[in-house]
Amino acid sequence: MAALARSVLVTGSNRGIGLELVRQLAASPRPPQHIFATCRDPGGPRGKALQDLAAQHPIIKLVQLADTVNLPSIRGAVRPVGSHLKDQGLNLPINNAGLSSHAMLHSLDSQEMLSVFATNAIGPLQVAKEFLPLLEKAAKGSGQEGLSCSRAAIINVSTKLGSIGLCLGVRQAPMYPYRASKAAQNMVTRCLAAELQDKGILCTAIHPGWVKTDMGTEKAPLTVEHSVRGILSVLASLSQDTSGAFLEWEGNSLPW
Ligand SMILES: NC(=O)c1ccc[n+]([C@@H]2O[C@H](COP(=O)([O-])OP(=O)(O)OC[C@H]3O[C@@H](n4cnc5c(N)ncnc54)[C@H](OP(=O)(O)O)[C@@H]3O)[C@@H](O)[C@H]2O)c1
Repeated sequence: MAALARSVLVTGSNRGIGLELVRQLAASPRPPQHIFATCRDPGGPRGKALQDLAAQHPIIKLVQLADTVNLPSIRGAVRPVGSHLKDQGLNLPINNAGLSSHAMLHSLDSQEMLSVFATNAIGPLQVAKEFLPLLEKAAKGSGQEGLSCSRAAIINVSTKLGSIGLCLGVRQAPMYPYRASKAAQNMVTRCLAAELQDKGILCTAIHPGWVKTDMGTEKAPLTVEHSVRGILSVLASLSQDTSGAFLEWEGNSLPW
């Protein structure tokens, strides 16, 4: 099987789903040539697992992206990625970094709402915008027709909890900041998919399932290994037909 993409970038890759995406990509039989693993402080103690992984796999390049909400910080990551790729573009940025909040109606405060919204909805849009020149270069230089992750794609890690269509079925967890911000991120995905398809760039939202991570907690039924195996196989199957789709980790469609 061909590599998923020549170059992949993962945000929030020091733990949880992001770290496992980097781990499985690097260990795959046909790995990408370049894996850019971004996090807030790749050299610090919170980046230790990632440093250990990069020491085993020279294709992993650690890149600081201190805050996906902060433009100078994103631009500070675009520069080293661009110079490392030289005349190639970036095929596959995965917007994985995200922030949860369990605030309910009675405990809601606007500052928390704004900060979760910034990370989950504005961050992925800004990352897509700043990496767009590198994505366009990848799409043009690929020699491929149609849409795929191996050509050029933006993946937004979303959640079923951001589905407006499913919301009435999950009344026990209002989580206003998290759900509203992921619903907004889903709209960002749809808009990017519509705007970028003529440039040969795919954009899809993926729900990873309820996963045992710091965010998902130990109560979650899915291991991170299992979820990421599913996500990577879904990514390999994406095409024109699934650009602008909202899929779960096993490839089934979710209602927006
Ligand atoms: N786990 C689940 O059950 C589940 C279910 C549905 C969807 N998701 C989605 O999956 C993605 C990954 O979740 P996870 O479970 O792996 O979460 P996690 O274990 O809490 O990890 C979140 C990651 O995002 C980073 N991050 C958060 N805000 C950031 C910001 N503003 N700038 C840069 N990095 C930031 C964190 O960095 P630090 O370590 O520096 O804080 C960390 O690397 C999220 O988008 C989440 O919404 C998860």
